[in-house]
Amino acid sequence: MDVIEAMNTCTAMRYFTDEPVPREVLQQLVHAATRASNPGNSQGWAFLVIDDPAIKAPVGEKVLEGMQPFFSARPPGRDGVEERMLQGAEHLARNFAQVPAWIVGMARNVYPPHDPQESFMHSTIYPAAQNLIVAARSLGIGTCFTTFPGYAQPQIRALCNVPQDLHMFVYIAVGYPARPFKPVRRKPVDEVLTWNRF
Ligand SMILES: Cc1cc2nc3c(=O)[nH]c(=O)nc-3n(C[C@H](O)[C@H](O)[C@H](O)COP(=O)(O)O)c2cc1C
Repeated sequence: MDVIEAMNTCTAMRYFTDEPVPREVLQQLVHAATRASNPGNSQGWAFLVIDDPAIKAPVGEKVLEGMQPFFSARPPGRDGVEERMLQGAEHLARNFAQVPAWIVGMARNVYPPHDPQESFMHSTIYPAAQNLIVAARSLGIGTCFTTFPGYAQPQIRALCNVPQDLHMFVYIAVGYPARPFKPVRRKPVDEVLTWNRF
């Protein structure tokens, strides 16, 4: 698939089939992530793939525990689109353990070498994560960026022996889509583009 088409239809996928994503494919996605630009080519990133049910189940329980207050108190979405998004987000959180694989995007505080700044960890992991989701879309695989598994960060650290110097930023759900990809809905480019001067 053409990369522009992949970007145009790379909607967040929150519903997956049970079909496992082969490890070679998951590795291919991480390969795509690591082709991204990054500060000074420091490549301070690391990717943890969680596809083991014995890890996903306890992490999923903790995620649900953390999200429960939000689920029970959340106001309805402002419109149908937002309501569907919130319902999808809840579905994903409630079904954490059923998602075929989670890829955790992490980074080390290593740039610049003489005076490392935390902000460069974000600059490192987010372009890589975006590469990953676009590559996945091109292969017909759905993904969803999430932050809510942060509730289970201590469990993930413990169960997966994550080294202390790795900071976890983004948790990407990965699986074969159970719903169709759609064109992404974004502001018209004219609203956000300025030529030379505001
Ligand atoms: C940093 C980041 C965090 C996100 N966190 C969540 C999340 O916790 N749960 C979720 O369902 N979607 C999450 N998303 C996905 C966005 O909600 C989604 O991309 C946005 O609503 C636009 O929808 P679309 O990508 O399907 O066009 C996140 C996206 C980003 C970039």
